[in-house]
Amino acid sequence: MTTSAHNAKQWDAFYASSQTRVPYTDAAVFALIALSRNPDARVFEFGCGNGQNLGFLRSVFPEARLYGCDVSTEALIAGRRLYPDLDLFVSGDALGLKPVSLDVIIERATLQHIPKPLAARYVQEMFAALKPGGRAFFEVASMDHGYAARGDGSEDPVFGHRVFYALDELKTLFADFRIDQVYDRRRALVEGAERNNGRPVYDEAAFQLYLTKPA
Ligand SMILES: C[S@@+](CC[C@H](N)C(=O)[O-])C[C@H]1O[C@@H](n2cnc3c(N)ncnc32)[C@H](O)[C@@H]1O
Repeated sequence: MTTSAHNAKQWDAFYASSQTRVPYTDAAVFALIALSRNPDARVFEFGCGNGQNLGFLRSVFPEARLYGCDVSTEALIAGRRLYPDLDLFVSGDALGLKPVSLDVIIERATLQHIPKPLAARYVQEMFAALKPGGRAFFEVASMDHGYAARGDGSEDPVFGHRVFYALDELKTLFADFRIDQVYDRRRALVEGAERNNGRPVYDEAAFQLYLTKPA
């Protein structure tokens, strides 16, 4: 079984019963700003799930050119039902993106579920697909993530395998891009989280990278 087929099985089970429609602010705002500057921009989300980010962008920019891929067929069935006019496709260990075709790429919490060698191949393919001067936003779990300290550091009770990155590794992973900004982003979940001695223990620590493909 390929890595993406393994992930697809796991995420199909998740999306069969869970459908959130709330966009993730920073990824969505990044694309909103780009679209407000250039409404013709081609925007692609890697690992778009059920389309919660792209669907929100569609509600603000009805004519925008919005594309998304995911390994989970269940996620995309839900995405197509919720947002019929998004361009969503099922991807595998390659994305099949046309070189130099995209203006904006967003990714949130997808690379962190993919083994590092395959993640590096996806990043290369996305770099090639971006136009010179194109912008990208990635949010990737850091070593300070709440689950990084558990067991072998990679088991999430809901999402299975997780991969955590140190900042230096991300600088290597995105070496072809110009790194405009990096944030150390923390989202401490205070309700609905697993608790240890009454205290929430789940901290979604991640690095957010704001990137440009050099012209
Ligand atoms: C935590 S969810 C994030 C979904 C969405 N980006 C968001 O902001 O809510 C991770 C997503 O990555 C997808 N995924 C996992 N492995 C993948 C792969 N190899 N290629 C594309 N998508 C993948 C999952 O199916 C899931 O939809």
